[in-house]
Amino acid sequence: MKHNLALVGFGVVGQGLVEILIEKAEDLKKRHGFDYSVVAVSDIQKGSVYDEKGLEIQKLLSLVAENGNIEGYPRGIKGWDSLKTITESNADIIVELSFTNIETGEPAMSHFKAAFETGKHLVTTNKGPVALAYKELAEMAEEKGVQFRIEGTVMSGTPVVNLATLCLAGNDIREIRGILNGTTNYILTEMEKGQSYEAALKQAQELGYAEAVPDADVEGWDALAKVLILSNVVMGGALKVSDVEREGITKITLEDIRKAKDAGKRWKLIGQTRKENGSIKAKVSPEMIPTSDPLAGVGGATNALTFDTDLLGQVTVVGAGAGKRETGYSVLTDLLDIHRTLKK
Ligand code: HSE
Repeated sequence: MKHNLALVGFGVVGQGLVEILIEKAEDLKKRHGFDYSVVAVSDIQKGSVYDEKGLEIQKLLSLVAENGNIEGYPRGIKGWDSLKTITESNADIIVELSFTNIETGEPAMSHFKAAFETGKHLVTTNKGPVALAYKELAEMAEEKGVQFRIEGTVMSGTPVVNLATLCLAGNDIREIRGILNGTTNYILTEMEKGQSYEAALKQAQELGYAEAVPDADVEGWDALAKVLILSNVVMGGALKVSDVEREGITKITLEDIRKAKDAGKRWKLIGQTRKENGSIKAKVSPEMIPTSDPLAGVGGATNALTFDTDLLGQVTVVGAGAGKRETGYSVLTDLLDIHRTLKK
């Protein structure tokens, strides 16, 4: 089965996805019967191109590497904005990778709704709309008979949302707790090696872990968005941003880190959500945990989450939480799942 994909947003994650799609094209066809064309790419900074017969995606990557944009693509229709690309292209799956906005969810919120309205499946790594309005969006997708996939919103391609909603189905998940932000975990790990906060943040940005505005990471907003997603998608809550206590890592000094080390402890930014007296309580805060705690051993941009379940006890998943290919992969896993479902 062949799928026409339109990419809204062609930053680090979009390019990571396209690299993977090129590398794995043969294997995806052979092993999964998954064939694709990328018919459109629309990015607010890099430009927009549409060809209903499919774009030459290696060319798009080269153009971005050479010029920082895709304006010089030799064929196709240029200049369509994101909404026109979503509503008027012949894509059947929209891959929404525009920037995250945790206050309004826009422009991604409008992109999601436009995709559903025009009967297109949607895969996203964009936390904003999912954290703010998952239930409403999921209902809209269901009403329109299309799929809405969000694996990459939490811990990049490491299975979390699909693990919790599909593989752990039937369990009562009582608590989810762990390290949910790669940038801050990377910074804390580097600071423990003696690196300054500023230098570590700069490296995290260069490695593609950090959000466009890194306050989102260091002030705990990114982890908060993920905690909200877990609370509302997995735990069945209806929490809002203001329901989640939040503190980032900006107040942690090298001195604090040294003191923790001397006491056999380590600072981690911990996100948690749990069921308590019939309601869901969630928070994000730095915690000084003993080095014997399994979460203390999770360093760099790696993330980890422990699900406390009634039937299995604790289930922990440790893996990539950010990164170009890691997040690009999250889209692939959702695309393959849509493909499997449509094949039935
Ligand atoms: N900025 C995020 C992080 C990216 O550092 O974890 C993945 O959501």
